[in-house]
Amino acid sequence: MTHETAALYGGQRSRRVTIRDLLAAKERGERWPMLTSYDMYTAEVFDEAGIPVLLVGDSAGNNVFGHPDTVPVTLDELIPLARAVTRSTTQALVVCDLPFGTYQVSSEQALGTAIRVMKETGVQAVKLEGGLAVADSVRRIVEAGIPVMAHIGFTPQSVNAIGGYRVQGRGPDADALIASAEALEAAGAFAVVLEMVAAHTAAEITKRLAVPTVGIGAGPDCDAQVLVWQDMAGLRSGRLPRFVKAYGDLRGALTDATKAFADEVVAGSFPADEHTYR
Ligand code: KIV
Repeated sequence: MTHETAALYGGQRSRRVTIRDLLAAKERGERWPMLTSYDMYTAEVFDEAGIPVLLVGDSAGNNVFGHPDTVPVTLDELIPLARAVTRSTTQALVVCDLPFGTYQVSSEQALGTAIRVMKETGVQAVKLEGGLAVADSVRRIVEAGIPVMAHIGFTPQSVNAIGGYRVQGRGPDADALIASAEALEAAGAFAVVLEMVAAHTAAEITKRLAVPTVGIGAGPDCDAQVLVWQDMAGLRSGRLPRFVKAYGDLRGALTDATKAFADEVVAGSFPADEHTYR
């Protein structure tokens, strides 16, 4: 039976999660999970499993489109993925990333991009990367009625400027990161992603902000945790970053299914009678 639940994760709800629900969860001290999604079936599965927030991330660059990182991803590539995710969900709050180059030029550009994403995808919020430099853009987008999730710490769109995948918020950098988080909250962000941030700095930010922090490689004290779904489910190849935990072996399962299919085709046992029209 479908019933409304106060908790963000667990049970079924008859409407989508809202940013007010996320703020209420922070007040209750309730942790919640978030996953990326880029297509219909994962969106359906994660929504049915009760994941309250789904991100159509520009991590599609290195998880869908075969790029080495997120830098080449375009808005025209991300919009159809976001549409697929919103069409396939009824409960999750869906957030869409603003890709590199679609908001850094000016706050006008940022607002225009955010409006296009909202009109063409059906998502409930947008996400953009950066600290003080994007605070004005965050404010303008929020003032236009569009919820914004901020993203600081290691910001993948700036991987070339940062010089690789480096942990942020350590030592003297901690104060600047805390100041960025506070500025983004003041600008109206409804949540702040903290990526590859020293755990003690993430804990301090989480304590200071009234809005939830969403950690990825930011230790156990964030209000929420996000993973790229292919990492979470064990589909990714190669060495995993330290912050990833694979909760399944989808790559193994898919390889086994693929080989079983191929073997039966070669042996002539597929299609069998029950798969055949007479
Ligand atoms: O694009 C993405 O997947 C992200 C998450 C890592 C937070 O930004």
